[in-house]
Amino acid sequence: MVVIKDKTFEKFISYEEILTKVSTLAHKINSDYKGQKPLFISVLNGSFMFAADLLKEIGLDCEISFVKVASYDKMESTGNIKQLIGLNENIFNRDVIIIEDIIDTGRTISKILEEFQSLGAKSIEVVALFQKPKSGLVREELKYVGFELPDAFVLGYGLDYDGLGRNLKDLYKLKN
Ligand code: IMP
Repeated sequence: MVVIKDKTFEKFISYEEILTKVSTLAHKINSDYKGQKPLFISVLNGSFMFAADLLKEIGLDCEISFVKVASYDKMESTGNIKQLIGLNENIFNRDVIIIEDIIDTGRTISKILEEFQSLGAKSIEVVALFQKPKSGLVREELKYVGFELPDAFVLGYGLDYDGLGRNLKDLYKLKN
């Protein structure tokens, strides 16, 4: 168990299980993009650990970039998507793969997809490690999803609670 500020979290998914899933996702991408040169764009901060583990398993000729969006206020998605910053690559005519940590309401990823479409990417896919049920986003929009989670607040493996807990190796769930 882990206590952060006023909340207690219990271990939910181990690092070993996460790595197995990450490797499955990477193998799918390796085979789907064989012969292509995709541009991976990792959405910071939450996806830094996932991106690092995933990309170590990617055997493709690829480029890797990072963008940042801040849309989350403590435990509730505010919906106030701030600007997407840090995209230095020209994504026109590129095969883009967006690396996301977790899809909750789906607002963040929808906004990113919209923005990238308007910049003329040739193809855009999303690889998300976790998805919560309320996002309502379906398979065509999210091609690669690791774990389907219940609607609970989670922490660790890159995900934070009020700035803390990103360094935890396993995934934790808020204890009721
Ligand atoms: P959405 O726009 O509601 O889909 O929220 C997506 C972003 O909110 C993710 O990229 C995370 O940074 C953050 N987020 C969503 N759920 C959680 C959670 O359970 N723990 C920590 N961060 C979360």
